[in-house]
Amino acid sequence: MTQHLTIRRPDDFHLHLRDGAMLQGVLPETARHFARAIIMPNLVPPVVTSKDAAAYRDRILAALPDGARFEPLMTLYLTEGTDPADVAAAHASGLVKAVKLYPAGATTNSSSGVRDFSKVRAVLEKMAEIGLPLCVHGEVVDPSVDIFDREAVFIDRVLDPIRRATPGLRVVMEHITTEEGVAYARSGGGDLGATITTHHLIINRNHILAGGIRPHYYCLPVAKREKHRLALRAAATGGETRFFLGTDSAPHVDALKEHACGCAGCFTATNTMALLAHVFEEEGALDRMEAYTSLNGAAFYRLPPNDGTITLTKAGPAEWPAKILTGAGPVTVFDPGFPVHWHVET
Ligand code: DOR
Ligand code: ZN
Repeated sequence: MTQHLTIRRPDDFHLHLRDGAMLQGVLPETARHFARAIIMPNLVPPVVTSKDAAAYRDRILAALPDGARFEPLMTLYLTEGTDPADVAAAHASGLVKAVKLYPAGATTNSSSGVRDFSKVRAVLEKMAEIGLPLCVHGEVVDPSVDIFDREAVFIDRVLDPIRRATPGLRVVMEHITTEEGVAYARSGGGDLGATITTHHLIINRNHILAGGIRPHYYCLPVAKREKHRLALRAAATGGETRFFLGTDSAPHVDALKEHACGCAGCFTATNTMALLAHVFEEEGALDRMEAYTSLNGAAFYRLPPNDGTITLTKAGPAEWPAKILTGAGPVTVFDPGFPVHWHVET
């Protein structure tokens, strides 16, 4: 039986596009299905100032395939030297839609991130005043904390104190991976949202480590136990407006993934919408997919939903390239490990 699902064009509220040849290679994968995306600023060097963000936005627009309609929603990388006035001007001009907090050392290209949170107080207060969201990579970097506990500990040690100290600060808990993350997101009001990636709805830590190490399933925050994956599925498919899609699609060339010290990141831009239809169907929640991919995030970011629709069709086995060949090298597309029958009509 053929099934169809027509939804508003989706947005990706957490995306890594990189720069140069990699940007050129991966951008079409997102622009094919998504109307807009929140663009992560962890380039080398990072996107820190409004001037950096404007230049990066121009490079993204220049890399779009002819005829593509895609709007990059720019972010600034929060450093201990970030100027509150520059942030406010970038927001007022419409250029910047969020500021990204990386605890220094937490993940890829995070060395310019925050070590001493007292140094970013003035920026956070300005953001609370103007309503500009803070996107948070929620993991502590304390080497004595087990990597599987770093998200839960971050909530207690860092996130909750920041939110209590900064009333009105709008926060997106990025790529939550635990039932503690789901519970904390639910404890907030309308000023707290959370993104969930596609891959964290599909894999648990066994997929990375059991029967051989699978570097293409390694990302940060690392996938956790099965009970956490199930909590994420319930959150994503349950219809609560605070949860929305942020793929964290994070391309690294194969040579750096299949390496003695492999980079963190799963590349899901190509097949995210087909995989989500599979997941939402499994959960009996296809009627809630549009809210998750196309409405809840836009509402949190105070953006109108997109015009236009995409249609997903369930038919024969879906296929996509195993790798995207970029000028920087091949990038392996996330393999869910099961057959998928959903296709996005383009
Ligand atoms: O897996 C990840 N990859 N997690 C991050 O937080 C960063 C990202 C990247 O930039 O590669
Ligand atoms: Zn990310």
